[in-house]
Amino acid sequence: MRSDVMLDVTGLTKRFGGLVAVRDLSFSIRPGEILGLIGPNGSGKSTAMKLIMGVERPTAGTILLDGENIAGLPSHKVARKGVGLVFQHSRPLHRQTVLENIKVALLPDSLLRLFADPHVDGQARAIAERVGLGKVMERKPPTLPFADLRRLELAKAIARHPKLVLVDEPFAGLTASETREFSELIRGFREEGRAVLLVDHNVKSVSALVDRVLAMYLGERIAEGSAAQVMADPTVRKVYLGGAITTVARPESSFKDVTPVLQVDNVSVSYGKAQALQGASIHVHEGEFVSVVGLNGAGKTTLFNAISGLVPYAGEIRWEGKPLKALSPAAIARTGLVQCPETRELFGDMSVRENLDLGGHFLPPKEREERLEWLLELFPILRARRAQMSRTLSGGEQQMLAIARALMMKPRLLILDEPTLGLAPVILETLSKALEKLRATTPISVLLGEQNVTFALPHADRVYVLDHARIAWEGPPGRFEAEAAATYL
Ligand SMILES: Nc1ncnc2c1ncn2[C@@H]1O[C@H](COP(=O)(O)OP(=O)(O)OP(=O)(O)O)[C@@H](O)[C@H]1O
Ligand SMILES: [Mg+2]
Repeated sequence: MRSDVMLDVTGLTKRFGGLVAVRDLSFSIRPGEILGLIGPNGSGKSTAMKLIMGVERPTAGTILLDGENIAGLPSHKVARKGVGLVFQHSRPLHRQTVLENIKVALLPDSLLRLFADPHVDGQARAIAERVGLGKVMERKPPTLPFADLRRLELAKAIARHPKLVLVDEPFAGLTASETREFSELIRGFREEGRAVLLVDHNVKSVSALVDRVLAMYLGERIAEGSAAQVMADPTVRKVYLGGAITTVARPESSFKDVTPVLQVDNVSVSYGKAQALQGASIHVHEGEFVSVVGLNGAGKTTLFNAISGLVPYAGEIRWEGKPLKALSPAAIARTGLVQCPETRELFGDMSVRENLDLGGHFLPPKEREERLEWLLELFPILRARRAQMSRTLSGGEQQMLAIARALMMKPRLLILDEPTLGLAPVILETLSKALEKLRATTPISVLLGEQNVTFALPHADRVYVLDHARIAWEGPPGRFEAEAAATYL
């Protein structure tokens, strides 16, 4: 092995029953180097990280860390040797404060009695400041916005002083400016001489940050080189990047209904003292595609939860002219108002097929079969995974399943809350085509909540900007750039 290499992986393989998630993968990373790992959903990126971290046991292969084979060691031993993993999904201790969460990470299990040690406290505070959690140290994770939960994961990893940091989808769900901040933090790792393995579907941000890129497909390496070389590779373009998303908006005057199907009038929601939505008014016509764009914490999910009857609100929400306030969430869903939540809410111990069947349980058998068939054509990977338990699906596969399950419910108005989270570019293209097909062939209305404007604008006839709990702008997507982009970005 070469002495300038910190991590040297050879022939890494992982089988789950008949599925080979990672096949004969070899790569290396030097100290002070960031290697980007890209590939479509389900290509084995997270699995590769888990194998290095010892969360999963490799079926075959060696993993040399500074010359020592760590393949097959349990994760606490791997951590002690200097490897840290920042998970794709946040897993904080919910009853402990942010500061306490960082302290737990700072101390090996046997030393937890040092919890009150002022030195430990000082270190934990310094880490919190470094990752931008200085203002929320005393809060508990469930009250934190999404980006802060990601910061906490990063803080926990830093606390252990890893020489090799594995970061899984740090940018997913973050806004452009949060993404820049996170990139800076990761750049900091490089400057400290740590080695970094980075997975993310934000191709631009990955390209700007990494020294080299490795592309995977179906568990195998398909390309490796500079970001520019790999992104130009024809196979990578075909299986991962896909084509450009283009669509046309229809003017509001083209919707013939006199009364919009959905009318949200002067709706306000507060959680205790925090006002999450303030006098918001929006409407959606039958067949119209409306996007609500806003940064994390602007109030999008609250707006959608109010419509779905999941949170109490002041003001009025009408569906086909009738007030919804008295109806239960289940009754609202039965009227055809279906929300696909940001949190996915899948039944983890049920298979893909069972989750879909639950969505369509009220449909007559023939129609259910036809819809299922249509959805499996829309998302072929779900067909291949149909017997798999949904909690073992890759991040992007879970997102596809959540969207497919919502469509199984035959919505008349489909509410999609951050559907692009964790999806590979090529799948965004698939989703885009699916939405276009719905727009062209059915009377369905879509309400799309996104902070990703690049996806939200092409799929909208009309756009609202939600900013600090208020509707700040409304107009056709064509005017967004000139009138709203400055406030928004
Ligand atoms: N415990 C498991 N049992 C069965 N299959 C699994 C298990 N864990 C992962 N898989 C499968 O292995 C494949 C690779 O999954 P992995 O999570 O590594 O993908 P990924 O590249 O990280 O994708 P994404 O970009 O969507 O997060 C997926 O198809 C997934 O369904
Ligand atoms: Mg993953």
